Amino acid sequence: MMIKLGVLASGRGSNFQSIINSIDRGALDAEIACLITDNPTAYAIERAKLHKIPHVYANPNGYASKDVYYRSIADELQFCGVELIVLAGFMRVVRKPLIDAFPMRIVNIHPSLLPSFKGMHAHMQALEYGVRISGCTVHFVDEGVDSGPIILQEAVPVFSDDTVESLSARILECEHRILPLAIKLYIEGKLRVTGNIVKIGD
Ligand code: GRF
Repeated sequence: MMIKLGVLASGRGSNFQSIINSIDRGALDAEIACLITDNPTAYAIERAKLHKIPHVYANPNGYASKDVYYRSIADELQFCGVELIVLAGFMRVVRKPLIDAFPMRIVNIHPSLLPSFKGMHAHMQALEYGVRISGCTVHFVDEGVDSGPIILQEAVPVFSDDTVESLSARILECEHRILPLAIKLYIEGKLRVTGNIVKIGD
């Protein structure tokens, strides 16, 4: 059954594009009902226009509080009939009103092997720590920062001459694989969540 996705993005939108591409080549039985950005100049908006995906700029400064902001985003997504929300480079911590409206129905992509290097600047944190392996994680979103149940991870090597740019490029390739794959597993009803553990199966 075709499900409706809502995507939240703040910038470039290459992960958003990876979802569009997966849908276009028939790998994902989904429709992107709405892109919401918190940034009016996000390149993700251009991608939405190109693919005729409805897009909304939700100005974070235009609301009485953060909770009201997320309540209005939840309203918009419910209005569009969204079943699963994908945070694809959305640079904010989402709040309770959105999480409560979509329990275990929000996924996020993070550029580290969680629980290492949560928050901003994950690549820099990995380089400064000196890890030999990093990667990316798709997880369900709870009220913490990058802390919900892990769905998929993919690892990459970290080389001694890596920079933030070279490491993020290597990790981004994995992000573009595992984000659509996690969405596919969700759509196929293959994810079972018990506490903090996600079981993948039929
Ligand atoms: C990605 O590295 C993602 O993991 C992080 O922000 C970046 C967004 O890139 N949360 P893009 O906008 O999808 O190109």
